Amino acid sequence: MNRITIAIDGYSSCGKSTLAKQLAKKLGYSYIDSGAMYRAVALWCIENNVIENGVTDKNKLISNLDNINIEFRFHPEIQASQTYLNGRNIEREIRGMAVSEIVSKISSIKEVRQKMVALQRKFGEDKGVVMDGRDIGSVVFPNAELKLFMTAEPLIRAKRRYDELKAKDTEVSLEEIKENLRLRDYEDTTRKENPLVQAADAVVLDNTNYTTEEQFDVAWELAKARL
Ligand code: DC
Repeated sequence: MNRITIAIDGYSSCGKSTLAKQLAKKLGYSYIDSGAMYRAVALWCIENNVIENGVTDKNKLISNLDNINIEFRFHPEIQASQTYLNGRNIEREIRGMAVSEIVSKISSIKEVRQKMVALQRKFGEDKGVVMDGRDIGSVVFPNAELKLFMTAEPLIRAKRRYDELKAKDTEVSLEEIKENLRLRDYEDTTRKENPLVQAADAVVLDNTNYTTEEQFDVAWELAKARL
């Protein structure tokens, strides 16, 4: 069977990672969460005082990009990959609100994107990869065999994210999440460098009224047709 590249893009909290993991598992492919990479850089910025009082010291960040080492390590006990920053497991920390609040700003910096895109292409060089993000089908893998563009109604997205964070005991309100998603949508779609756009050959998947199983069935049919 052909090994293909599957690119999944879309707004924040649209279920991209759930679908990407399901497809990767079914196909025995690796799953790369490109958002986690930008989140890792954002966490590095917080820990290294690159952002103070909302102001980003871009020069400090850019001159330190080579000191930010991001990897994914597979954990057989949970059958999932987790994100590592300079050898430390940061999977939990990067999902919190402190990182969510600054990650769009950090990911809009050209030099950060260049480094992440190069790394993402390296992770996917042998195909057999499912990668989710904002610019995977449009920039990272423009020749991906399957491109999905996911969307859902804003309130549904906020509620899903709220339930996810509550399940992890994160202190957060639905209002805060709605506002964070609104701001991130704005920043992700209006930034100059590689904004979130639907690739011309992407298939739109609106999962507002789908269960995760229904969503998988739709995507799996599309993937099978390309294998
Ligand atoms: O998918 P996520 O919510 O974990 O992504 C976190 C942020 O990273 C998101 O606000 C936009 C940015 N991002 C990006 O700019 N390009 C990507 N390929 C993935 C994420």
